[in-house]
Amino acid sequence: MSGSDLIARAAALREQLEYHNHRYYVLDDPQVPDSEYDRLFAELQQLEQQHPSLLTADSPTQRVGGSPLPEFQPFSHRTPMLSLNNAFSDEDIEAFDRRVREVVAGDVVEYEVGPKFDGLAISLVYVDGVLSQAATRGDGYSGEDVTANIRTIRSIPLRLEGPRVPAFVEVRGEVLMLRADFERLNQEQDAKGEKRFANPRNAAAGSLRQLDSRITASRRLAFFAYNIGSAEGEPLLRSQSELMDWLGEMRLPLCQQRSVVKGVQGLLDYYADIGRQRPGLPFDIDGVVYKVNSLAAQQELGFVSRAPRFAIAHKYPAEEALTTVEAIDVQVGRTGALTPVARLKPVFVGGVTVTNATLHNQDEIQRKDVRVGDTVIVRRAGDVIPEVVGIVPERRPYRQVPGKDLFDQAQEPEFAPFEMPKTCPVCGSHVVKEEGEAISRCTGGLFCSAQRKQALWHFASRKAMDIDGLGEKLVEQLVDEGIVRTPADMYKLGLAKLTALERMAEKSAGNLLAAIEASKNTTLPRFVYALGIRNVGEATAKDLARHFGDIDALIHADVEQLLAVADVGPVVAQSIVDFFAEAHNVEVIEQLRAAGVNWPAIEKLSSSNTKLSGKTFVLTGTLPTLSRDDAKARLETAGAKVAGSVSKKTDYVVAGTEAGSKLVKAQELGIPVLDEAQMLELLLE
Ligand code: IVH
Repeated sequence: MSGSDLIARAAALREQLEYHNHRYYVLDDPQVPDSEYDRLFAELQQLEQQHPSLLTADSPTQRVGGSPLPEFQPFSHRTPMLSLNNAFSDEDIEAFDRRVREVVAGDVVEYEVGPKFDGLAISLVYVDGVLSQAATRGDGYSGEDVTANIRTIRSIPLRLEGPRVPAFVEVRGEVLMLRADFERLNQEQDAKGEKRFANPRNAAAGSLRQLDSRITASRRLAFFAYNIGSAEGEPLLRSQSELMDWLGEMRLPLCQQRSVVKGVQGLLDYYADIGRQRPGLPFDIDGVVYKVNSLAAQQELGFVSRAPRFAIAHKYPAEEALTTVEAIDVQVGRTGALTPVARLKPVFVGGVTVTNATLHNQDEIQRKDVRVGDTVIVRRAGDVIPEVVGIVPERRPYRQVPGKDLFDQAQEPEFAPFEMPKTCPVCGSHVVKEEGEAISRCTGGLFCSAQRKQALWHFASRKAMDIDGLGEKLVEQLVDEGIVRTPADMYKLGLAKLTALERMAEKSAGNLLAAIEASKNTTLPRFVYALGIRNVGEATAKDLARHFGDIDALIHADVEQLLAVADVGPVVAQSIVDFFAEAHNVEVIEQLRAAGVNWPAIEKLSSSNTKLSGKTFVLTGTLPTLSRDDAKARLETAGAKVAGSVSKKTDYVVAGTEAGSKLVKAQELGIPVLDEAQMLELLLE
């Protein structure tokens, strides 16, 4: 090849690689298999190795990171990177809109809106379309040059594309780490025995501020553009949303949740909508950002001190907060699992006051080294159970311990490490922790009143025998008074025994007895689920019932027969065999049947006799007449699977009112969306 052919070939390869890169990392829609990308990459790499003069800064081969820097160079921003004022209430937003309308004519202002990413602000400088420098925000005027590290982020274009590439532009946006990549990184840190990152933001910051860009290259970072600093030779743009479209056209990654809304109501609706989506988003956000859409109006509004008057951040309640551990208690679950729970100094987090947080198990406590007295980070995201993310080591007091000599003064934490009890805190039975298992268990079984209570409560629960009125408190009383020991005892209860209980009036006792009586007519899946066999949830109980058709076949099934059931693996099969190997469990079943508990015969599953078998449904929002559980049950009876999230494998999404991100996802993926009536029709067909 001649010199000019070589240059042209290298340029063509770079262009193709960046195109496929964009399809893969930004659009999530690769056009060629990885092997094709690898082939093009290898060819370019070879060309550059043979002819080093061909190498350019915007070559995709430069995304792998280079030799470590001695330090970061300071970088002055041409246009300062300012911050945003925060709003916390609807009133704050009304006031913001009022201030905007004092300057901008018209009753209803149009706003460009998007999530407020919880990452690090970055400025990307493109000269003639080529990424030439990238810097952190720093104090807003001067940051650090992190160009080598930014190049390793695959979704950031090394060269801008399209018909409207300017001579110069500073693109502003946020670098962050997706939650899934953060979890993976922490698992890797564990495996290497290295320190965990407290949250995705810290992980993103730690990964970007690496003098060795090869480390940054090994971490998965994401980027979303949200604005520009200065530009030269940019097209005529009238609004923020046009500006965003322009950035997208040049292949800069934009977040899908951006939108344009009108007036205060539009802003508040958007805030509520993103708030609902927040727990399910792939990244952390701490609010939403509203910007007056018209760029002329933005100019007119200008800035007050260090923040724009045309934009504001509307924050959500923080998902993390600091508090102290007052005690660590150990709870005993239905299957005997001991769960350490941190009793916390009450703290407002995720919109509620939290006083307890799970510490999961002993391994977790050890790994995080949580001790009574420690200051901890508590996290509550969405409706997830609050958890202790980690301690703040700087807040732990240490005392001097005299050592062997004057120069060997050791430091020792004031607080003692937590240890799991050797005996059950409720029944005193031995606690075992199996090799390779994280969970410690009380060996007391149904002798342990904590396990008995949980087992009975589970038995009576709505998705099991559905005994209305038999809640946690009542079960506790019945067990503590020695009235009920096994589920079968519940069917021997009489009015006299019940009304003798504290706070139990004759009327509610009567209602309860009626509910117990009504629960006798049940279904086999419910009954199997109610038994509370370890590792057998609602779905497995259904599979087992359909596969075996009656309880006796299930009782006598061996591991091999159980493994023939769809979705039953060796662990589940063993739990089932273990359960029925206990004579008292089989005895209780006999007693329950003798007491009149019954279910209609069930047709054994033959996978083709149901009209929706093999189809996967996802339910979202509130349906007009059916409860979520009802709809699920009907679909499952027809052989369909009901999944929790929308993916390419979803066949139908059934949407009711207030349907959120699942509906959006379905529309994006082109999955048919049904309303309740259409779903019922499908079931009738
Ligand atoms: S616009 C002049 N949009 O929030 C307007 N900022 O408090 C400049 N941030 O340092 C910012 N998501 O790191 C804007 N969608 C978004 C944002 C966003 C996160 C951060 C940014 C900035 C800070 C300002």
